[in-house]
Amino acid sequence: MKIISAITEMQRTADEARLLGKSIAVVPTMGYLHDGHLALVRIAKQNADVVIATLFVNPTQFGPTEDFNKYPRDVERDIKLAESAGTDILFVPSREEMYPTDYLTYIVIEKITSVLEGKFRPTHFRGAATVVAKLFNITKPHIAVFGQKDAQQAIVIRQLVKDLNFDIKIIVTPTMREQDGLAMSSRNMYLSSTERKESTVLYQSLQLAKRLIDNGERSCSKLISEMTKLITSKSSASVDYISIASASTLQEFSNLETGDNTLISLAVRIGSTRLIDNILLTI
Ligand code: PAF
Repeated sequence: MKIISAITEMQRTADEARLLGKSIAVVPTMGYLHDGHLALVRIAKQNADVVIATLFVNPTQFGPTEDFNKYPRDVERDIKLAESAGTDILFVPSREEMYPTDYLTYIVIEKITSVLEGKFRPTHFRGAATVVAKLFNITKPHIAVFGQKDAQQAIVIRQLVKDLNFDIKIIVTPTMREQDGLAMSSRNMYLSSTERKESTVLYQSLQLAKRLIDNGERSCSKLISEMTKLITSKSSASVDYISIASASTLQEFSNLETGDNTLISLAVRIGSTRLIDNILLTI
């Protein structure tokens, strides 16, 4: 596996691969890799000749009171894991390389970024869309692979690609879970052992909603109230939001109708750790 930290070298390497007729897939990450990331790399490998994983904790997608400084970082470990999963090139730029002191340009995607995560993290998607667009221009991929765990991010990236005419196919892969259902996330390492046990309530509440829907419940306020009851039965848990919305527009439903492609998503604080999760359902 080749490790590259300069943008010009990454662009030249991507150009060379393209000239040889090779297809490129990129897997953008913020590092501290887990099995969820490695699954993305494997899927990238099945879909392209050259897999580039990027490793950059992007400061512009963190709010001023968020966990940018304490976000877990272990580049040596990431290098081993990325290589073991079949990454061909690991792009690891510095902050100065990505955002030199005279940096001025940001991408704002309207409407779909002001709901759900965007309500609680108002500058998050501006930073995430900007860095993803930069990574696309730097790695020049044919394909980019993202995880369904960040459901809203996946929708925002698809919109970015469509609106700005990036010639890139977006693949979104299912959420990888621990055996007890907790969605894999680099942030899970913040949890104490009690919090780790209680964190399974996110997935349990999504499963509860699914069961209630399967049994005929159609009122979103009823579903949200049952989910909230279950989550707040855990002493460490508090709900930022629970949303039952259209999986394409993110517009919230009040009542579910047959055929609705529905995203049930939530953000819950377990102690001081903010976790997100979601499921997709067709009613
Ligand atoms: O999903 C993430 O880890 C990040 O938001 C991404 C896409 C790597 C951009 O920094």
